[in-house]
Amino acid sequence: MDNNFWLRLKQPFSALAPMDGVTDNVFRQIIVEIGKPDVLFTEFTNCDGLLSTGRDKVIQRLKFKPQEHLIVAQIWGTNPDTFYKSAKICVELGFDGIDINMGCPVRDITQNGACSALIDTPLLAGEIIQATREGAIGLPVSVKTRVGRKTEVINNWIRFLLEQKLPVLTIHLRTASEMSKVPAHWEYMSRIVDLRNKIAPDTLLLGNGDVQTLVEGEAKARQYHIEGIMYGRAIFSDPWLFNKKIDKTQITVKERLELFKHHLDLFRQEYGETNNYAILKKYCKIYMNSFPNSADLRAKIMLTQNLSEMELTTQKMIKDLYYI
Ligand SMILES: Cc1cc2nc3c(=O)[nH]c(=O)nc-3n(C[C@H](O)[C@H](O)[C@H](O)COP(=O)(O)O)c2cc1C
Repeated sequence: MDNNFWLRLKQPFSALAPMDGVTDNVFRQIIVEIGKPDVLFTEFTNCDGLLSTGRDKVIQRLKFKPQEHLIVAQIWGTNPDTFYKSAKICVELGFDGIDINMGCPVRDITQNGACSALIDTPLLAGEIIQATREGAIGLPVSVKTRVGRKTEVINNWIRFLLEQKLPVLTIHLRTASEMSKVPAHWEYMSRIVDLRNKIAPDTLLLGNGDVQTLVEGEAKARQYHIEGIMYGRAIFSDPWLFNKKIDKTQITVKERLELFKHHLDLFRQEYGETNNYAILKKYCKIYMNSFPNSADLRAKIMLTQNLSEMELTTQKMIKDLYYI
C-alpha cells in the first residue's frame, strides 16, 4: 500500500484523538500552531449524513487546512455502501487516511448498531472495512475501537480486527460500558500485542487511554512495544501537549488569554458571527486553567451573549493584565 503514511512515521508516533465537539478544524489549527502531533483525526462524521440532503452542514466536520496534514477522517455508520461512498468523498477532500469508529459508546448511536455496537456484529464490521477500503482507493483504512462492550472480548473482537490486516488499529483500553469512568486497562496491552505479533505483525498499534504527557506516552510505547500513542483529554489541561521544545512552566497568563483570543479569531474567520458561538465557551477552560484567578475569568466568558462580546471581554482581560 503506497499511500500508507503510517509506515513512514518515526516511532513511537503521537496522535491527537478524535473528539466530537472539541477537535474541530478551528481547534486543530491552534494545535498545529503551538505543538503538532504526528497525526490529527477529525471528529467522527456520519456516513449517512454525508450522503443526505443535509450534506453541506455535515461536511463542515471534514474541513481542514493544508498545514494539518497528516490528517485522518474518522467516519461512522452501519451501511457498507455509505462507507464506500463516504470513503470516496474523503479521498476527494485530500485526507491522508480514513478511520472507522468502532468504539463510541453513546446509546443513541449504538442502539442503531453503529460504533461500539459493531463489536457484537463482526460480520457487518468486516463488510464495512471492506467497503471502506474499496472507496478509499489505496488510502490506509484504520479502525479505532474498545476492548469490548460490557466485558473485554480481546480474544474474539481484537483478534477479528487483527485478521482484517489493518495498517493501524487504535485501542481505547476500556469497554464501552465503562465509558471513561474507570482507569484505562493498560494491563491488557501485553495480551493485545502478543495477539498482534501472532496474527498481524504488520498492523501498527496505537494505544489510547489516560495518557497525560508525551514522556508518559513514550514510556508506555516502550514498555508495551507498541508503535504509537493517542492522546485525548490530556489536551484539555495542556493545549501545548505536543510541544517538546517549550518550558511549560514559563507560559504566561497573557499567552494563554491571547491563545483563546486567537481561537476566537479563527472561529470568526471560519464561521462568522452567526454560527453557534456558544460552543466556544467550553474551550475557555482549556486556555484559562491552572493560574490563580482563572475561574473568575472563565465566569466572565460564560456571561457573554455573542461572539463580539466574547472577543471584547477577552481583549479587556488581556489589557487588564497590565494593571495587575
Ligand atoms: C468530548 C469527547 C469526544 C469524543 N469524540 C470521539 C470521536 O468523535 N471519535 C472517537 O473515536 N472517540 C471519541 N472520543 C474518545 C477519545 O477519542 C478517546 O478515545 C478517549 O477520550 C480516551 O482517551 P483519553 O483517556 O486520552 O482521553 C471522545 C472523547 C471525548 C472526551
